[in-house]
Amino acid sequence: MDARPWIVITGGTSGIGRAAALDLVGRGRAVIIVGHRREEGEEVAEAARARAQRGGELSLVVADLSTIAGVQAAAAELRERAPRIGALINNAGILASRRELTADGIEATLAVNFVAPVVLTLELLDHLEASAPARVVNVASSARHVGRIDLEDPHGERGFSSLRAYAQSKLALIGFTRSLAARVDPQRATINAVHPGIVGSRLGGGRGLIGGLMRLGAPLLRRPEGGAAPLVWLATDPELAGRSGAYYSRFRAVDGGPAEIDSDAWTLAQWLLGDHLVRWP
Ligand SMILES: NC(=O)c1ccc[n+]([C@@H]2O[C@H](COP(=O)([O-])OP(=O)(O)OC[C@H]3O[C@@H](n4cnc5c(N)ncnc54)[C@H](OP(=O)(O)O)[C@@H]3O)[C@@H](O)[C@H]2O)c1
Repeated sequence: MDARPWIVITGGTSGIGRAAALDLVGRGRAVIIVGHRREEGEEVAEAARARAQRGGELSLVVADLSTIAGVQAAAAELRERAPRIGALINNAGILASRRELTADGIEATLAVNFVAPVVLTLELLDHLEASAPARVVNVASSARHVGRIDLEDPHGERGFSSLRAYAQSKLALIGFTRSLAARVDPQRATINAVHPGIVGSRLGGGRGLIGGLMRLGAPLLRRPEGGAAPLVWLATDPELAGRSGAYYSRFRAVDGGPAEIDSDAWTLAQWLLGDHLVRWP
């Protein structure tokens, strides 16, 4: 049996996730990226082959993480392909310029940035714990400072703002991170969240005010490799063993927001997912 602890990175086809995947393969790690565009995933696999060191390997799972069924299918394939998962980096994210609902009726930003990491983590939790010691790294954002979890109107029906939706999704992800960490033995799996820094990437797709600013400013911003460094650190550094339930701004543990976001995020996740899940810890 393949005894290697695989590192799973969602959104590994571009930006920070791609850079983290290539970095890890260069360190001899076995990596699976989850992406929704096969061609881009194959390009990353090709780049990884040129860089792989001492057993480093990169494999691709194609999945659309904007729907609950897509995430569950990805989880099933990951369980099959990786007998052990040592780290799950929930990195895939979007900044939608306008309001769209997914097939599950969930606002798209909330679906990709919050619901997908919740579902993937819970679907894989048994598998991660069986691979102990395992780590979950949730890629959040300093945009959480301007966010609030709106339990009355989480889908932005009463007025949509791209930044508000993004900030809500990231704040909720931090709350979920801390809630889950409180329920899981840190000797089996640690769960942390991180802001990777402001990075020049495709985030926002160049659309809308923020996307446009991101695209124009990209040459002046941190490169994806720099944004990937804290993700790699949190997923692999032995000094972080057993440390769980924190929010990091790059390499520094900082305040992730008031305690009530933990229960609000948990409530929101349960409400959005209904009876979709295998197991709530
Ligand atoms: N850039 C920043 O300044 C910054 C700051 C704070 C936090 N972050 C966070 O960092 C993470 C990575 O962002 P990035 O800056 O590297 O942006 P990016 O280059 O746009 O990368 C996002 C990744 O997510 C994938 N993705 C989006 N929707 C998906 C879906 N439905 N199914 C599967 N994969 C999907 C994208 O795939 P495709 O390219 O194929 O769509 C891409 O690989 C995000 O969570 C973002 O919120 C970024």
